[in-house]
Amino acid sequence: MLSIGVVGLGVMGQRMLARLAGHARLRVTRVWDENPEVLTQVLSHYPLLRAAANAEALIREPGLHGLYIATPPGPHIALSERAFDAGLAVLCEKPLTTDFAAGRACVERIERERLRAAVNYSLASSTGLAHLQLAFGAASRRPLGALNGVSIELRFAAWPRPWQSGAGAWLSQRGEGGFTREVLSHFLFVLQRVLGPAKVLRSEVVYPDDGIGSELSLEAELVAAGVPVTISAGVGGDRADDNRMLWQASEGEIELRDWFGVTQQRQGEQVQSLGDAETLRRNGMTDQLSHWAAMLEGRSHSLPGFAEALAVQQTIERLLARDN
Ligand SMILES: NC(=O)c1ccc[n+]([C@@H]2O[C@H](COP(=O)([O-])OP(=O)(O)OC[C@H]3O[C@@H](n4cnc5c(N)ncnc54)[C@H](O)[C@@H]3O)[C@@H](O)[C@H]2O)c1
Repeated sequence: MLSIGVVGLGVMGQRMLARLAGHARLRVTRVWDENPEVLTQVLSHYPLLRAAANAEALIREPGLHGLYIATPPGPHIALSERAFDAGLAVLCEKPLTTDFAAGRACVERIERERLRAAVNYSLASSTGLAHLQLAFGAASRRPLGALNGVSIELRFAAWPRPWQSGAGAWLSQRGEGGFTREVLSHFLFVLQRVLGPAKVLRSEVVYPDDGIGSELSLEAELVAAGVPVTISAGVGGDRADDNRMLWQASEGEIELRDWFGVTQQRQGEQVQSLGDAETLRRNGMTDQLSHWAAMLEGRSHSLPGFAEALAVQQTIERLLARDN
C-alpha cells in the first residue's frame, strides 16, 4: 500500500477521494483543508480518514509516501516545495501556478534533486491522446497523412459548470480561475504533448466589465510544429460542458469529444468510434491511478511533470494576456 495525504478537500479533492476509495495500491491516510466545515463534512463521509492538525503536520506525518494537492492554484508551489523537503512524491492539480518565477525555481529543483512530481492532466492517460500520438506524434508513421490543422471548441451554458458550482469564488475570478485555465489547459496539454510548444499568434479575450470576473470568451490562433491551431471558447449554448478537439490531416481526422470520447475517420471511410466517452473516461481514470502508483514508486509513468505543466500554463497565460 502507498500512503497518500490530501490537502484541499473541495470539489476536486472530494472527487479524488471517491476515485481512490477501495483502490488496491493507493490509500489516503491523512487529509487537511483550511476550511473547518469542509474538513468536518469530509470526515463524516469517510470515518476511517484522519485529519492532520495543519498542512505542515500532514506533510511531516511518518509513513506517508506522497502528497496530493487539490487547493486552488495559489498554494500549489509552496505546498509542493514543503512536500519535497519531507521527501514526498507530489501529484499537484492543474493549473500548476501563475507565478512563473516560483514555478521555474521548483522545476529546476525537481530536475536537480531528481524528485518525483506530476500534475493532474487527466487526458494524459486517455485513449484519445494515445491515438493522437500514433497518428501525429514524433515517432508516428503518419497513418492519416500530414496534419493540416487543429481546432478546439469549448462552450459552457454557465461558468462555473454545475458540478463545480460549490467551488470557491476563485474559479469565476480572472486572477486564478476561468475556463481557459480550467478546461482549455487540458486540451493545450494534449496539443503540446503531441506537437511540442505552441506559439500564440493572436488572442482576443472578452472579460466582464466588473474588473473581477473571469473571461466570457476567447478566440485565438496559434501554431505548433508548423501546424495552425484555432481556438473558439466561451460561455453560451445550452450544454453544460461542450468540448471538441479536431485534428484534420490529409488522409483523415481524429476528434476528441466530451473529454474522453474519440472518433477517427479515414478518407472515404465511415466515422469509427474508438469507444464511448464514459467507458473511455473510466479506463483513463484507472490507468491514471496506476501511473500515479508508478510515480510514487519512482518507476516510469506517463503523467505530465512540472516542466510540461508549466509550459502549458505559459501558453495559457499568453492567451489570457489582453495585449496579444
Ligand atoms: N484535473 C481536473 O480534472 C480538475 C477538475 C477540477 C478542478 N481541478 C483543479 O483542482 C484544484 C481545486 O479545485 P476545486 O474545484 O476543488 O476548488 P474548490 O474551491 O472546490 O476547493 C478548494 C479547497 O481548497 C481549500 N484550500 C484553499 N487553500 C488551502 C490551503 N492553503 N491549505 C488547505 N486547504 C486549502 C479550500 O478551503 C477548498 O476547500 C484547482 O487547481 C482546480 O483547477 C482539476
